[in-house]
Amino acid sequence: VPGSANKREAAVRAAFASQAEWAERLGSPFTALLCATLASRLDRETQIGRRVLDWPGRPEAVADALALRLCGGLHGLVRRGDSLGLAAFYPPHPAPDEARLWAAIERTLRQCGEALRPWLDSAPQTNEVGRSALLMAGLMAVAQRFALPLDLLELGASAGLNLLLDRYFYDLGGVAAGDPASPLGLAPEWKGPPPPAGEVAVASRSGVDLRPMDPRRDRERLLAYVWPDQPARLARIEAALAIAAADPPAVERGDAAAWLDTRLAEPSAAGHVRVVLHSVAFQYFPAATQAHIRAAMEAAGAAAGSAAPLAWLRFEKLEQDEKYSLRLRVWPDGSDRLLAWSHPHGSAIRWVADAQG
Ligand SMILES: C[S@@+](CC[C@H](N)C(=O)[O-])C[C@H]1O[C@@H](n2cnc3c(N)ncnc32)[C@H](O)[C@@H]1O
Repeated sequence: VPGSANKREAAVRAAFASQAEWAERLGSPFTALLCATLASRLDRETQIGRRVLDWPGRPEAVADALALRLCGGLHGLVRRGDSLGLAAFYPPHPAPDEARLWAAIERTLRQCGEALRPWLDSAPQTNEVGRSALLMAGLMAVAQRFALPLDLLELGASAGLNLLLDRYFYDLGGVAAGDPASPLGLAPEWKGPPPPAGEVAVASRSGVDLRPMDPRRDRERLLAYVWPDQPARLARIEAALAIAAADPPAVERGDAAAWLDTRLAEPSAAGHVRVVLHSVAFQYFPAATQAHIRAAMEAAGAAAGSAAPLAWLRFEKLEQDEKYSLRLRVWPDGSDRLLAWSHPHGSAIRWVADAQG
């Protein structure tokens, strides 16, 4: 039906235009230009062009994230030197005008369709190491409260790079944390009081993801989804991937709820705090998984005693909020606290909890 085909194409163009706006807001003018160019100029002359414009699913960012699939694919080709000259228009080169950029993209779409196809087949996957700064500050609050070693259980862990957070070094509002000898240092812009100076000792770490990424095998894929004009983010994830490659964290494949059930059914180690944590993941879980996790945490919390406390650390955007927040609930008392507001990548943090909690 021509009418519905037109509607589909309009939805695809709108998704690229909206992604352009988001990229601009999140500090990637190049991705903004790329998405805006594709929004207005993508045509049916190539197989990839037809496949994208006829996208049968939901192209928008919160669903299939179609624009980021294609941007990731193009960046992947550029990174491996297979883009037929498109690389000359990518950072660090100066931004091209739209017409020249489109001419180069068009050539790549025409001649590299085979290589681009798998990028359209699967959703973008990221692992944002900047969030380790927030999670570390949250663990410092847990450590200050209980002064016990921590068993970390991460839901939606991707490649597990944030599970290795104690192997990075931090300056958190003037408070040093982590491993001072680490090749990876994180110093987010910090506002408000410093985080509690609890001594974080990670006793064990494990995670789950529907589609775990392997820090060695999936390295290039993870790097391709980082926006090309954000060299600091690229450098950060490259450093974390090198650390993870030497000793990859255990991330099992599965649904977060089922995995959490199994973990919580295991006896908790006396004298340890079990910390369930997740960042920018809960919103992607199906409603049934979310409800199951909430109930499982309530039940495990009710059973937690002071010899083996339980903590739930979340960096997520709640529906009622405009910004991402870091929140911490601990048991046996069950108290829940807002710790911080932050940029979604953890690059600018406003700590709100007072140092004593
Ligand atoms: C936006 S990524 C965030 C990854 C990581 N937590 C970070 O902050 O960089 C969300 C992750 O949640 C995972 N995910 C989505 N639904 C899931 C589910 N039902 N169970 C487990 N993981 C899931 C995805 O595969 C993806 O790796």
